[in-house]
Amino acid sequence: MNLVINPPQEVFDQLVTLTSQTHGWAHQFYDYKYYKEVYGGFWFVAMLDDEKDSSDNFVCGGLLSRWDIENGAPLFGIGMFYCREEYRGKGFGKPVFERMMEIVGDANCVLTAAVDMSQKYADVFGFTKMWPYWHLEAEIEPGKLRNPVLSSKITTKDYKEVEKGALEAYDLTICPRDRKKTMGTWFNQNEVYTRVAFDSAHQIVGYCTIRSVKLNRLCAAPFYAESEEVAARLLSDTVAVVPGFRDYEKLIFWYPEINQGVERVLSEAFPGGYHIKKDFRTQFTKELIPARDTVVYSVACSTFQFV
Ligand SMILES: CC(C)(COP(=O)(O)OP(=O)(O)OC[C@H]1O[C@@H](n2cnc3c(N)ncnc32)[C@H](O)[C@@H]1OP(=O)(O)O)[C@@H](O)C(=O)NCCC(=O)NCCS
Repeated sequence: MNLVINPPQEVFDQLVTLTSQTHGWAHQFYDYKYYKEVYGGFWFVAMLDDEKDSSDNFVCGGLLSRWDIENGAPLFGIGMFYCREEYRGKGFGKPVFERMMEIVGDANCVLTAAVDMSQKYADVFGFTKMWPYWHLEAEIEPGKLRNPVLSSKITTKDYKEVEKGALEAYDLTICPRDRKKTMGTWFNQNEVYTRVAFDSAHQIVGYCTIRSVKLNRLCAAPFYAESEEVAARLLSDTVAVVPGFRDYEKLIFWYPEINQGVERVLSEAFPGGYHIKKDFRTQFTKELIPARDTVVYSVACSTFQFV
């Protein structure tokens, strides 16, 4: 076994394939390039089996990013911590996680903890700063889409038709850390659809990105709306521009459980066509960074973003 940093793309592809098959995690192979490009620092720490070739050698690994901003401290993020099933519980995970924490040092770090790992992250690695609520996952059947009654006071546009600065300013009202680069690049990936909602005074009141991920699924990442009325319009208009929407297996939302509007919107748009489970908890090591979670219908990315 060998602990390496940033192995070839084929190793990342194994991680994406395994995590989508066994845990339904929602990624694309191109995410490796994306993370390297948009974050100030990025490390894929992987334990590899030297006796196998690079299409089958992944044993255990995790991703670490360093999100830099002007006039502020960096925020590290840990995601996709995963061990191939047959190697679990044999001590391969711990050195991977410890290597990532060595790089983090004394800085603030965030992760989205799986339900059974949440307490361990707090007790062993100091991820003790957390909101009192969990994030839920809604798995939706696209084929069950109905046409609910929508407000004509809310309109939407493709993000390319929206003034960039206005969208960036709106984003800062939800996530206090500047993410021009992470979001700007995200919108431009392949098979990613983004619409922005406006009220009758032409103010931005939400935006929604839907992207396709492995195993013929879609995920809403992110989806913000100032009210249920906005959310219903935004959801309806965004799914309408996803080619072959009804043929996808699933549409996934990850949302804070305090936003009960999500379920009301889903029950109108997909009656009897979704189920919800407790999914993860957002945890920081040093400082909890606030987010306007009451308007969050789905977080931007469950790997490194906290809102
Ligand atoms: C989580 C996971 C990567 C751990 O890998 P592993 O190789 O099984 O872990 P190890 O054998 O090194 O762990 C040994 C012990 O350390 C614990 N441990 C592992 N990683 C840990 C971490 N990051 N923090 C605290 N404890 C950890 C294990 O729970 C175990 O504890 P126990 O002895 O009390 O049972 C693996 O179980 C896995 O892939 N799970 C499914 C995916 C998942 O849930 N990932 C976490 C997402 S947040």
